[in-house]
This record gives sequence, C-alpha cells and structure tokens, in this order.
Amino acid sequence: TSTPLVLGIETSCDETGIGIVCGEELLVDAIASSVEEHARFGGVVPEVASRAHLEAMVPTLERACAQAGVRLQDLDGISVTSGPGLAGALMVGVASAKALSVALGIPLYGVNHLASHVAVDIVEHGPLPEPTLAMLVSGGHSSLLLVPDVTHDIRSLGSTIDDAAGEAFDKVARVLGLPFPGGPHVDRAARDGQVVIDFPRGLTTGRDMQRHRFDFSFSGLKTAVSRWVEHQRADGVAISVPDVAASFQEAVVDVLTRKAVLACTEHDVAALQVGGGVAANSRLRAMAQERCDAAGIELRIPRPGLCTDNGAMVASLGAQMMIKGRPASDLSLPADSSMPV
Ligand code: KG4
Ligand code: ZN
Repeated sequence: TSTPLVLGIETSCDETGIGIVCGEELLVDAIASSVEEHARFGGVVPEVASRAHLEAMVPTLERACAQAGVRLQDLDGISVTSGPGLAGALMVGVASAKALSVALGIPLYGVNHLASHVAVDIVEHGPLPEPTLAMLVSGGHSSLLLVPDVTHDIRSLGSTIDDAAGEAFDKVARVLGLPFPGGPHVDRAARDGQVVIDFPRGLTTGRDMQRHRFDFSFSGLKTAVSRWVEHQRADGVAISVPDVAASFQEAVVDVLTRKAVLACTEHDVAALQVGGGVAANSRLRAMAQERCDAAGIELRIPRPGLCTDNGAMVASLGAQMMIKGRPASDLSLPADSSMPV
C-alpha cells in the first residue's frame, strides 16, 4: 500500500524514540530522554543509556500508541535503527523491534541512523527532491551526504576528521562554564554577543581544502577558543561569554554552510536538507537560508524537535522502504555500532 502504518524505534544514543507514521504523515513522535542522567558526567555514558532505554521502551511505546489512537495489531511494519550508535543502546531497540515483528507477524526494517535523519524531512515538508544534498550535524556526526534516493545508495561526500560539530559546541560550552549539552546555551549566549574574534576555519584553504574539500575539522577551533580564553584570564582580562560564543558559532556555521552550498553547486543538486541537533542552531538556520537563497538552492530544515534524535525519523524511513518495495530485514538483523551510511 502507498500509506503503510509504520512504527519506528530509535535507541542509538540517549533518546528512546517511538514514532508512528502513516505513509508520509506523522501521527505521533514520543520520546524519553536520559540526557539529565548523563549531565553530571559531562557526556553520554553508554551503560547508563542502555539501562534507560530498557526502562523507557514499553512506557514510551504505550504512550505513542495511545496518543496516535493506534493499536499494535493495526501496524503494517516495524522499523528500527540498526546502526551506527552505541552498541548496547542499539541492542535494546533492535531486540524490541524483533519481538514486535514476530508477535504481530509484520515485516521488520533495520535502517541507518544517518539516513533516518534525512527521511524525517518527508513527514515535515513532503517528498524529497531526488537528488538531495543532506548535511547531518549532531553530537556524533558532521557529514555531507549525496542522496539520490533516501532508501538506498546514499553516498558520503565528506565528514569530520576529528570532532563533530555538536561536540565542538559542547566542549566550548564547558570552557565558557555553560551546562551540558552546551549547543543551545552557546546559541542563546551568542544572541547577546558580537562576532569580534576571528577564530580559525578548519580545512577551508589551500592544500587542506584540496585534500578535504567536503570534510570538516573542529578540534583546532575548539583549541583556539580555549587558548584565547586562557590567555585573557591569565592577563586578568574579563572575557565576554556572549562575544566568545558568537565568534565561535560564526566560525562553525560559516564552514558548515560554505561547504554545504559548494557541494550542492559542484554536484548539481538543487535542494539542501539539514538535520541533527546542531540544525536547531539559530545562526546556522539564518546563514544557510541566506546562502541558499543566493545560490538558488531550496533549503529544507525540519522543526528543531525533528532534527534531534527521535522515533519519527525511523518510522518515516521505514515507510519509504515499504512504499518503494525494498526488502525487509530478517531476524538476524544486527546492532551495528559502526554501520556505514
Ligand atoms: O542529534 P542530537 O540530538 O544527538 C546526537 O548527537 O545524535 O544532537 C545533539 C547535539 C549536542 O552536541 C548539542 O549541543 C547540539 O546537538 N545542539 C546544538 C543546538 N541544539 C542542540 N548546537 C548548537 N546550537 C543549538 N541550538
Ligand atoms: Zn542523530
């Protein structure tokens, strides 16, 4: 059928996400997060995340079904994040999805987490232009993907060679004394600041750019920010957190949007889709819009709640798999922590 009722399960990191879609329509996106349990460690602790998924799975599933008015026996398919992500966290989702698939006698679709971040845009903005260029920027990834069809043959044009974009936000937030996860706090602080410090734009010039045209590097930027802050403090100069936040953010967003638009132009792609937690960043959204407008590129960014990890994205990709007649997974479906796109 062209409007399969699909339930998607996402457990690759610290969010237990259950989404239900009917074809290209989103019915519900239920989420339980263990982010607060990790905050005191300053990062996600794998073992803590796995246990939290196990606790949250059934209540989140029940909440999703109740909110959507869907009974499990009405479902046409189950999809689940098979990788990449934290191994133990993925196993909870994959095992749950297999159990549902067997109990209900409906097909199981193991999907790639990165492809799901792209597929969620379909329930927000309708069918994806083919091809689309996708930029995925989160705490774990910074990738430019060429997407001829979201259900297969996605090609990575480049990715980070060190820290992910969100990781850089989180580390700089820590240097500035802002809480974890730091991205939203840096974003907010930057609104009261000015871009007054010229921080480095990694892999954008000379031989670095030639060798790493669509790759990113943010660890040098993070180090430059900590050095700058240390020097100011050593000199007894009070730093302006908003100005440092704004200057750092400008450097990240400049590099991301510049390379994304260049990739669209060079690969003759007319649509740019941005996803992942960092896609919630207000400066990124504004600069991407400006640069896409100037280049005649259609920009698609889902609402912030669908940019971060969620179950709707997995359900959306599962529905596309069914609509396009892709083969289902069998019960040997693994949890593949390092699954390539
Ligand atoms: O996609 P996501 O929820 O989880 C994964 O990493 O997969 O992304 C979380 C990341 C964190 O590093 C967080 O600091 C960052 O996204 N983030 C932001 C903003 N909101 C979340 N970074 C910059 N500006 C934001 N507004
Ligand atoms: Zn993600």
